[in-house]
Amino acid sequence: MKKFVTGLAAAGAVLLALTGCSAAASGGSGGDKAPEDIIVGFAQVGAESGWRTANTKDVKRAFEDAGIELKFSDAQQKQENQIKAIRSYISQGVDVIAFSPVVESGWDAVLQEAKDAGIPVILTDRAVDSEDESLYVTFLGSDFVEEGKKAGNWLVEEYADSDDPVKIIQLEGTTGAAPAIDRAEGFAEVIKDDSKFEIVASQTGDFTRAGGKQVTEALLKSNPDVDVIYSHNDDMGLGAIEAIEEAGLTPGEDIKIITVDAVKDGMTALAEGKINFIVECNPLLGDQLVDLVKKVVAGEEVEKRVVTEETTFTQEEAKEVLPDRQY
Ligand code: AHR
Repeated sequence: MKKFVTGLAAAGAVLLALTGCSAAASGGSGGDKAPEDIIVGFAQVGAESGWRTANTKDVKRAFEDAGIELKFSDAQQKQENQIKAIRSYISQGVDVIAFSPVVESGWDAVLQEAKDAGIPVILTDRAVDSEDESLYVTFLGSDFVEEGKKAGNWLVEEYADSDDPVKIIQLEGTTGAAPAIDRAEGFAEVIKDDSKFEIVASQTGDFTRAGGKQVTEALLKSNPDVDVIYSHNDDMGLGAIEAIEEAGLTPGEDIKIITVDAVKDGMTALAEGKINFIVECNPLLGDQLVDLVKKVVAGEEVEKRVVTEETTFTQEEAKEVLPDRQY
């Protein structure tokens, strides 16, 4: 797996270059196109979560505000659908292709086709593991390893005064997806030095509420004495809450829950004490993506890696920000 992350902290809405990259060298037209003459093809993962819905809405809004034509496709969490969509954008001759890869692997062929056609590609939200970094111009999105570390740090602090074993169920995101791989890695990295923490079960809930519920139901049967659920997103955590309540237990008390995203439903559950801690993953990538598209089309240099700014939320912090939460 390619590691895009080097532990750099985000300090603004946009940040950070690992290496610079000439857009023109990556297929940018280098021309002086007006926004209304630019066409962008965006291949979205699907509509699996509240985060994804907010992301889609924001991307569409940003391109409409910018007066840039956006061709949008929803891959329904299937890589083959995304590859088809990208091929169709190539044959339509769009100016830029942006996409959020369902999984990390298996993109080299289609990315090479885009490159051969002179169409620059912007990775949005999720990374690919291609060795050849010239296959895309830039990657805009979160530092998922850092998110996993933040979740682990909260746990370590929460149990700092206890030597008792802490049994953890991990609800993984889509198998092979960058956020699932990286959030597991960051979390494991932080808890590994204290033997009282044990991940007793780890299974995918595919980033969906139904998946989170189903997996938790099954795993609670084999692990009735679990202390903590670490869920790779809010939706699976919300599904876990349903399963825990149906098992006659109190989420947030009998079983502590940590999630990632901070969408409204998750933050509401946090404010109610059903979730104990949320690591933010910012879905509002639209304006940054538009900026990158304009630069790439103009042949300007863009950063190879753009990291979004994110925070974390406790129950008190969730109560404070909830009234103004956009998504
Ligand atoms: O890639 C971002 C992740 O994908 C979000 O955390 C999750 O909710 C979504 O489905």
